[in-house]
Amino acid sequence: TLRVLTGITTSGTPHLGNYAGAIRPAIAASRQPGAESFFFLADYHALIKCDDPARIQRSRLEIAATWLASGLDTSRVTFYRQSDIPEIPELNWLLTCVTSKGMMNRAHAYKASTDANEAAGEELDAGVTMGLYCYPVLMAADILMFKAHKVPVGRDQIQHIEMARDVGQRFNHLFGAGRELFVLPEAAIEDNVATLPGLDGRKMSKSYDNTIPLFEGGAKALKAAVARIVTDSKLPGEPKDPDNSHLVTLFDAFATADEREQFRADLRAGLAWGEAKQRFLTVLERDLAPMRAKYDELMSRPEHIEALLQEGAAKARAVATPFLAELREAVGLRRFN
Ligand code: TYM
Repeated sequence: TLRVLTGITTSGTPHLGNYAGAIRPAIAASRQPGAESFFFLADYHALIKCDDPARIQRSRLEIAATWLASGLDTSRVTFYRQSDIPEIPELNWLLTCVTSKGMMNRAHAYKASTDANEAAGEELDAGVTMGLYCYPVLMAADILMFKAHKVPVGRDQIQHIEMARDVGQRFNHLFGAGRELFVLPEAAIEDNVATLPGLDGRKMSKSYDNTIPLFEGGAKALKAAVARIVTDSKLPGEPKDPDNSHLVTLFDAFATADEREQFRADLRAGLAWGEAKQRFLTVLERDLAPMRAKYDELMSRPEHIEALLQEGAAKARAVATPFLAELREAVGLRRFN
């Protein structure tokens, strides 16, 4: 069997980047014969970026409803919240003790903070918590706990998965006594959507405030967001350069091969940006409209979502509990009761 695992941080409203980069490929992978999938809400990770409890709670619900509306089948996928699995923070500690500090110094999220501080002439570690610094270790625990082979993610997460491999390898070497305790994971990246751009052309990201929300706000919000995608100032009738337009990159992520070719040809022939956006909205809605109805229905039944997550947590713990016992024993922390 092939184990597929991925998670989303519950610190905001799911957007097109999360969907195209992670949710859609993960669900496709989970439907492959023989796949065994673990998809989860990374709600401990959310605490690293967010100290607003109401927002985290809301985000957990929105992201859970998004997964389910996008076709996650809980009879095939173990679907759970990270914070419902106490074995994960326990493993996090075992891994912390074999993770080199130098590797954490190089982690992108931490480096982005220290670089920004340096540029602003501040103390390097100003505002950096230990949560942010050790974020890749917790992520390694998420992945290694379930012996995942493939981790469908956007390009921004590749480094973290390489770090998980590194940490897993080190642990195997120190404590495996010749056995592979941990499976070493690989990132699974969809080339054409590895980094979906946001409204302004930078990576679509909650932190840049340039996202297109998937379902929240309904068809109206989607239309309003699409209208705000930045284009150049070429007038209707003027030829456009499709290779230099992030609207085209966005379109590509939701269109068929024929539609992509036609879109490029029409832009070169002078298609107005307004009409181009309307076409993007049409291909988007073809995918999203049916899911949105499901999403709205799920959001009105939080108790149903809660029941599914609790079932998922029980399934996940049935894997995590015996494995953690084995790991504890490997490091000399066997429990005798
Ligand atoms: P997060 O919550 O930032 O993003 C969730 C997933 O969405 C992908 N993504 C994108 N893909 C393409 N284009 C974009 N603009 C874009 N923006 C986001 C991300 O690459 C990611 O796959 N640390 C992770 C959550 C996590 C995790 C894990 C993932 C925790 N533990 C274990 C995999 C395995 C994160 O913050 O993703």
